Amino acid sequence: MEAATTLLDAEAVGDLVLLDPLTEESLLRTLQERFRRSDIYTYIGDVVISVNPYRPLPIYTPEKVQEYNNCNFFAVKPHIYAIADDAYRSLRDRDRDQCILITGESGAGKTEASKLVMSYVAAVCSKGEEVDKVKEQLLQSNPVLEAFGNAKTIRNDNSSRFGKYMDVEFDFKGEPLGGVISNYLLEKSRIVRHTKGERNFHIFYQLLAGGSAQLLQQLKLRQGSQHYGYLNREKSSLPGMDDAANFRAMQDAMAVIGFSPAEVTALLEVTAVVLKLGNVELSSCYQASGMEACSIAEPRELHEICELIKLDPGTLEQALCSRTVKARDETVLTALSVSQGYYCRDALAKNIYSRLFDWLVNRINTSIQVKPGKQRKVMGVLDIYGFEIFQDNGFEQFIINYCNEKLQQIFILMTLKEEQEEYVREGIKWTPVEFFDNGIICDLIENSKCGILAMLDEECLRPGVVNEDTFVTKLNQLFATHKHYESKETQNAKHVTDLSLPQRCFRIHHYAGKVTYNVTGFIEKNNDLLFRDLSQAMWAARHTLLRSLFPEGDPQKVSLKLPPTAGFQFKNSVATLMKNLYSKNPNYIRCIKPNDTKTAMLFTPELVLAQIRYLGLMENVRVRRAGYAFRQLYSPFLQRYKMLGTKTWPRWSGSDREGTEVLLSELKLPPEELAYGYTKIFIRSPRTLFDLEKRRQERISELATLIQKMFRGWRCRTQYQLMRKSQIIISAWFRGHAQKNKYKQMKRSALLLQAYARGWKSRRLLRELKVQRHRHLAASIISAYWKGYKVRRMYRRYFRSGASTRLANFIYRRLVQKFLMGLQKNLPPMSVQDRTWPPAPYKFLAGANQELKNIFYHWKCKKYRDQLTPQRKALLQAKLCASELFKDKKTLYSKSLQQPFQGEYLGLTQNPKYQKLHAVAKDKLVMAESVMKVNRANGKTVPRLLLLTTEHLVLADPKAAQPKTVLSLSDIRGVSVTRFSDGLLALHLKETSTAGNKGDLLLVSSHLIELITRLHQTLMAATSQALALHITDQFSTRFQKGDVAITVVESAKGSNNDVPVCKKRGSHKMEVLVH
Ligand SMILES: Nc1ncnc2c1ncn2[C@@H]1O[C@H](COP(=O)(O)OP(=O)(O)OP(=O)(O)O)[C@@H](O)[C@H]1O
Ligand SMILES: [Mg+2]
Repeated sequence: MEAATTLLDAEAVGDLVLLDPLTEESLLRTLQERFRRSDIYTYIGDVVISVNPYRPLPIYTPEKVQEYNNCNFFAVKPHIYAIADDAYRSLRDRDRDQCILITGESGAGKTEASKLVMSYVAAVCSKGEEVDKVKEQLLQSNPVLEAFGNAKTIRNDNSSRFGKYMDVEFDFKGEPLGGVISNYLLEKSRIVRHTKGERNFHIFYQLLAGGSAQLLQQLKLRQGSQHYGYLNREKSSLPGMDDAANFRAMQDAMAVIGFSPAEVTALLEVTAVVLKLGNVELSSCYQASGMEACSIAEPRELHEICELIKLDPGTLEQALCSRTVKARDETVLTALSVSQGYYCRDALAKNIYSRLFDWLVNRINTSIQVKPGKQRKVMGVLDIYGFEIFQDNGFEQFIINYCNEKLQQIFILMTLKEEQEEYVREGIKWTPVEFFDNGIICDLIENSKCGILAMLDEECLRPGVVNEDTFVTKLNQLFATHKHYESKETQNAKHVTDLSLPQRCFRIHHYAGKVTYNVTGFIEKNNDLLFRDLSQAMWAARHTLLRSLFPEGDPQKVSLKLPPTAGFQFKNSVATLMKNLYSKNPNYIRCIKPNDTKTAMLFTPELVLAQIRYLGLMENVRVRRAGYAFRQLYSPFLQRYKMLGTKTWPRWSGSDREGTEVLLSELKLPPEELAYGYTKIFIRSPRTLFDLEKRRQERISELATLIQKMFRGWRCRTQYQLMRKSQIIISAWFRGHAQKNKYKQMKRSALLLQAYARGWKSRRLLRELKVQRHRHLAASIISAYWKGYKVRRMYRRYFRSGASTRLANFIYRRLVQKFLMGLQKNLPPMSVQDRTWPPAPYKFLAGANQELKNIFYHWKCKKYRDQLTPQRKALLQAKLCASELFKDKKTLYSKSLQQPFQGEYLGLTQNPKYQKLHAVAKDKLVMAESVMKVNRANGKTVPRLLLLTTEHLVLADPKAAQPKTVLSLSDIRGVSVTRFSDGLLALHLKETSTAGNKGDLLLVSSHLIELITRLHQTLMAATSQALALHITDQFSTRFQKGDVAITVVESAKGSNNDVPVCKKRGSHKMEVLVH
């Protein structure tokens, strides 16, 4: 609403199309008024006019970006963001490639405007890692290009000294993919010369101020611009411009774009070379022929340059001081004069720098270019030098103004075309408007056959003496009658005295004014030739970057064809640019410089008026208003003005167009003021629109009062209703609360009363119940006593005798029964070794229990015995007998317990060798084993076979298996054995027996216990007499030679295993060592 108001503010209309009356003064006044209010942007339809405020304004904040994002162009305050947004949306949503043409004179704010457009588009298009990188690269190309291509001029501290056109490419979603930058006509003369108060290109000052000591040393530079001839040997720091910081920013920007450190170094080296070339001094000398020649005055600088570019200093010196001329087939080396030498040096510096700049632009393009194959939409931004009129205008101004002339042509054609197309689209009757078409001026300059540029080229290529005079003469002849061409000659021919037109000059009536050009230097600048010696010298350098800048220096590629002229190249690149721009939807930003002193908010009307004129703003407005000054879609129009009609307010149910028609007919506007298009309403004069706007303002205040009235009424009503409702609610709550309290009180009292009453009743009942219980208890006791008495009286006689005994017996019987039943269930295991028995539960049962235990054990043993075989029985009997004989008497006994009594150890039946012995024993054999017999004479032992039969004891020789000694059992008097665990036995024989003649036998048996047991048993069976067994340590034996006392000594483990060792001690003593 506010924006629309400013657009239509009669004092300072936002859109100059609405200006009434339309005069130069009113237009200027409006711009001035707006400028005073800090509204630096103004529209002419969809063209934005921007007046440089020369001070930062708070209108580029992120909030502003948001405000203009997706805005309605005419519904918001005029702003550069609005045009950027409109262009971007049209590109994104309607697939129309866009170009933004920014024009204006130096210092008018073109570069700033282009940066604002780019930053706006970057801010509103989508975000993402890849997209942000692309955006950053595109934005960062500015500091790099500005460092190398911008310089301080009198008019602008940061003047772009080249034309720039940047195509930003987007994908179908409107995300930036990359871009392409084209550069036009760098002002290279600035490299070698600049007027006082201006500066060379920023990069030189930035490098010297911001380069580290190490970098400067590497580049062989000295800090401070006062050391360099090309920098006018003067200190030149600019207020508000920090060269060192800008140098760092430029380096950072290069890194973002993707320059490698090696590339940056090479770039700075070449830059340093240009700077140092300015310090190469020449001195004059004379050749032998008397011709003037030049030489290097002080070779240090030249040597350093050659070190930097890795070139032989001699080559460079020769290239600078002499020139190779080809005459027929000969090559002649001509020396150059000092002035020619300096010309050469400067030409070289200019060429190196301008080629370096082209390389820089190409290098940036390599980084930001979009991969081929992707479908793209393009937004081009053109920031090109504006129209220039100086005191002395040369070739550059001619070229620049030609370019501006072309842009103006585009502007006129496209604006008109668009306007006409819109009328046709909307079906509105249209009478073509007269306007100045500058095609004739363009043709004057660019006509390929007889245009000024073609003539210049022709003059440059012409053999013979070539100078600017012949060129002007030719022009004078050709354009003698041309309306837009003037010179001294043509004026003279028309008898017009024009002192402002000197010789060697021509004047062109540009669309923006008359400009007089001095043709001096036209041919040289158009030729733009560099001596072959210099390009060859540069190519010979081993510095890769520098060498690549001079491909024509390669002797292999020497061509006699002249390179295209500067004018020709420029014409072509302008033609390409125009073609490019024609293919896109144009958006114009026309920058105006308000004063010459770069002062903030100072508006010099004369200066602005001049710009208004040459920018053709009046024409622009006129063309725009030739048809209808204002147009708008029916819907927003009806929305805005519907309150003016009784039928359309507050709601219109029909179509927007019908609504608009009804509304406007009700307002009784003159019909010639209105035209109804298919989608838009057209209003011819701004006055009508202002009238509409005024009525709207009045109606709005009426409506506002009405709304206010209604609102106030509604507010009071609703407040009253609210209060009433609240009051009802409060009183309802209060009453409810009071009643609730009262009810609670009553309830509490009732409960209390109830409790008392219930308590009283309960207590009374309890008392009664207690009395009743007492009565019952008393009655039961009495009845029990009574019944007892009756029973006792009845049963007294039965209880009198034996009752207790019978009772006791009964109890005993029950207990015994229980005990026996328990035993039956709990009998110990049948193993004879198991002696366990459950204990008696009562003391009076202990005896019986013991008895039962014994009975059970005996019974168990009997059961065990009954199942034994006779052999086993005999064996056990033998074991029993052995126990009776030896248990606790001889140590050997305990060892024998584990050994079963086998009886037969020799295997008589199996072994045929013992056949005879078998025959002796026959069925009577009790035991057979090998024994050792102790020699009675010396105590040594000899092996013998021992056979015990039921009648005899036989000793046999083991080898012959022949009985040696046969004893009848009755001959045995007794047997002596030791207490120890040895197998020694002395067999005492009766003296009467035949065998006894030789005396007692001393034997050592390995089954001593079994042998003696079996001997005892056999003897018992045969003679019914027990064997006389002596278990003793000392006994006497009777040998043939008398009695021998045998003493048994227990020793520690002997040497001869378990065999006792018998030692004779004299004739009547023998000592036996046992273990
Ligand atoms: N919108 C703006 N707000 C504030 N200051 C501005 C604005 N536009 C331009 N300026 C100031 O004006 C100066 C010159 O602007 P800029 O460099 O854009 O001019 P130019 O038209 O590109 O000139 P040239 O043709 O010499 O390159 C800027 O350095 C800046 O100080
Ligand atoms: Mg600029």
